[in-house]
Amino acid sequence: NQRSTEVLRAPVICVLGHVDAGKTTILDNLRQTHVQDNEAGGITQQIGATNVPSETIYRRTEMCREMISREGDFIVPGLLIIDTPGHEIFKSLRSRGSSLCDLAILVVDIMHGVAPQTIESIQLLVERQTPFIIALNKQYLEGMTFYESIYCLNSKVDLLYDWKSNNKKSIELVLQEQQQITQNHFEKCCKTIICQFAEQNLNVALYYENPDPNEYYSMVPTSARSGDGMGSLIALIIEKSQTTLSRRISYTHELQATVMEVKVIDGFGITIDVALVNGYLSVGDKILIAGQEGPIVTQIRRLLIPESNQELRTTNQYQNEDTIKGARGIKIVARGLEKAMAGLPLFVARQTDEIDFYKNEINIM
Ligand code: GTP
Ligand code: MG
Ligand code: NA
Repeated sequence: NQRSTEVLRAPVICVLGHVDAGKTTILDNLRQTHVQDNEAGGITQQIGATNVPSETIYRRTEMCREMISREGDFIVPGLLIIDTPGHEIFKSLRSRGSSLCDLAILVVDIMHGVAPQTIESIQLLVERQTPFIIALNKQYLEGMTFYESIYCLNSKVDLLYDWKSNNKKSIELVLQEQQQITQNHFEKCCKTIICQFAEQNLNVALYYENPDPNEYYSMVPTSARSGDGMGSLIALIIEKSQTTLSRRISYTHELQATVMEVKVIDGFGITIDVALVNGYLSVGDKILIAGQEGPIVTQIRRLLIPESNQELRTTNQYQNEDTIKGARGIKIVARGLEKAMAGLPLFVARQTDEIDFYKNEINIM
């Protein structure tokens, strides 16, 4: 199990933040999907998982490639992104999602600032020493961009109405090109948020002003609606993954997998959604997971992977695979999953004597 930095796996990126900060909409923008539109009450109620391929990353970071220092053999093969609910009742899902991840995106509504579940998320991340990037997302009034809302709230309308949305440039440049009054308002919002983070004992800075990434968490202004800043956000995630996180995300065969959700799927019966973080799984593998009445031992009948850029919790298009390597969000079809429990690890017994060993591991969890 010697770690090498030769082969990187996809980093697991968890999206956390207060309810309605725009977590799912940011992912919809990245994936070009409409998951948020179809959520009941516009509220996420489950953990989601999306496998984002490197082609998408490449395309979406075109305008800020200079932010990415490593190329060639050392690039990540994609991202496994975990969406979490921001509503206060889903603390256990935020905890489950954040416990899996290598890096998090903490989404903060730029006009509302740090809110109760932002603070709760910060605590989860700091506790586990998980690095994170802050997305300063969105607007003030529903249905408007941040910049449109400035226009609404300010009587000097004509001076602000001229904001030029541009998702083809880095957000640093887009901001520089704004009217002074727009820039001033933006800076005021940022100052407030920097103070709110300081109250939580965290140093934060806009990513292009960050004096020391080891001391300051970086913030990236984004608009999930227009896509402004999305390239900069993704480029920052990639850069961090391929530099400071590269040891952590080097691929090994050591299995690390967690059951995220237990679900009935038409035609397949009860299935489990699994975050396969590291190592590999194959059809026929003998797996062990926690169940309400003790450990469940079963065999993988099908390994399903959603189409690229499709959310595992909403898609019904899967591809069958014989073997899958981490990090990927996958669905497992097997018998005897009726009493399966989510939020706990999945083990594979590749030798018979490992069955009792892992049963014991599960019993003491
Ligand atoms: P939960 O998962 O329920 O915690 O919410 P969320 O953080 O995933 O937020 P969601 O994506 O559901 O967005 C909430 C609302 O804000 C939706 O109506 C989005 O369309 C809107 N929204 C999100 N991002 C933006 C943005 O950048 N600009 C504007 N104008 N609206 C946004
Ligand atoms: Mg959501
Ligand atoms: Na929402």
